[in-house]
Amino acid sequence: MRIGVLTAGGDCPGLNAVIRSVVHRAVDNYGDEVIGFEDGYAGLLEGRYRGLDLNGVSGILARGGTILGSSRLERDRLREACENAADIARDFGIDALIPIGGEGTLTAARMLSDAGLPVVGVPKTIDNDISSTDRTFGFDTAVGVATEAMDRLKTTAESHQRVMVVEVMGRHAGWIALESGMAAGAHGICLPERPFDPGDLVKMVEERFARGKKFAVVCVAEGAHPVEGTMDYGKGEIDLYGHERFQGIGTALAHELERRLGKEAKPVILGHVQRGGTPTAYDRVLATRFGWHAVEAAHRGEFGRMTALRGTDVVMVPLAEAVTELKTVPKYRMDEAESVF
Ligand code: F6P
Repeated sequence: MRIGVLTAGGDCPGLNAVIRSVVHRAVDNYGDEVIGFEDGYAGLLEGRYRGLDLNGVSGILARGGTILGSSRLERDRLREACENAADIARDFGIDALIPIGGEGTLTAARMLSDAGLPVVGVPKTIDNDISSTDRTFGFDTAVGVATEAMDRLKTTAESHQRVMVVEVMGRHAGWIALESGMAAGAHGICLPERPFDPGDLVKMVEERFARGKKFAVVCVAEGAHPVEGTMDYGKGEIDLYGHERFQGIGTALAHELERRLGKEAKPVILGHVQRGGTPTAYDRVLATRFGWHAVEAAHRGEFGRMTALRGTDVVMVPLAEAVTELKTVPKYRMDEAESVF
């Protein structure tokens, strides 16, 4: 069998672990040939690829990013790819394509699969917002980075009697904010799923200071919005990929709290540091398992599906199911963290 693999969308710790696992299982166990397309679907459309053998994936398990490069694909180019799906498979002689990516990549994977390309998807995203898998690799690493950052910020905040507003990633789903906020013991958590009232945060900080606590940490997801009319914060325009441009909620909220409290409030934007660097052990294991199962599925001819974690098992689910809705933070998870909202 000749298997093509690509990584698309925002990068994520664990991508290299999947690539390595695919190559090991396919080459070692089945004697397959594996080729890696460069820079996501762009490499597929432009015919940029290279052979991947055991030596080529040696030493990459613990490395962040992706050795293949990644990119996002504009809708028009995706349509072009779908129209040429059969030619693509024939031109590259591939019997299976394994795209590793988030919601956008898997939507594209589904379209390519519907157009006739033999596709087995592997979900990835630090946001953990893909509905049909309990977890995506990369999330554990991102939560760890954000938690450590808040642990560190607490000691400096306390020394200077400051409020720290820590902005973490999460456009529509606040999983990183929820779990890192809980793990770090943040005093306030703001999620995209539930508009927040800055007045509640002001009250929380004032109560803390009244109890002799001289600092506070608020964890805010980049996609969080204030309740309408509670503070000056607009909606961003829509970018090329259909995403709302962020307006910088961390900075806006820190300024708002400083103004209302008369105390120093500093924004800390964690940004892409959450996605960089070495994956945690958990993410390496999950990524490795996903790679193994993707190759197995390809050999069973189970196309149009993707790997998913259900409990502790890796199963195959239809790509269609994976991209119908985003997995957002449910109310019961917010209730569990209520004391810090
Ligand atoms: O989807 C993963 C993610 O890291 C989001 O949390 C974030 O909003 C987005 O990607 C950032 O993308 P970019 O790399 O284009 O800045």
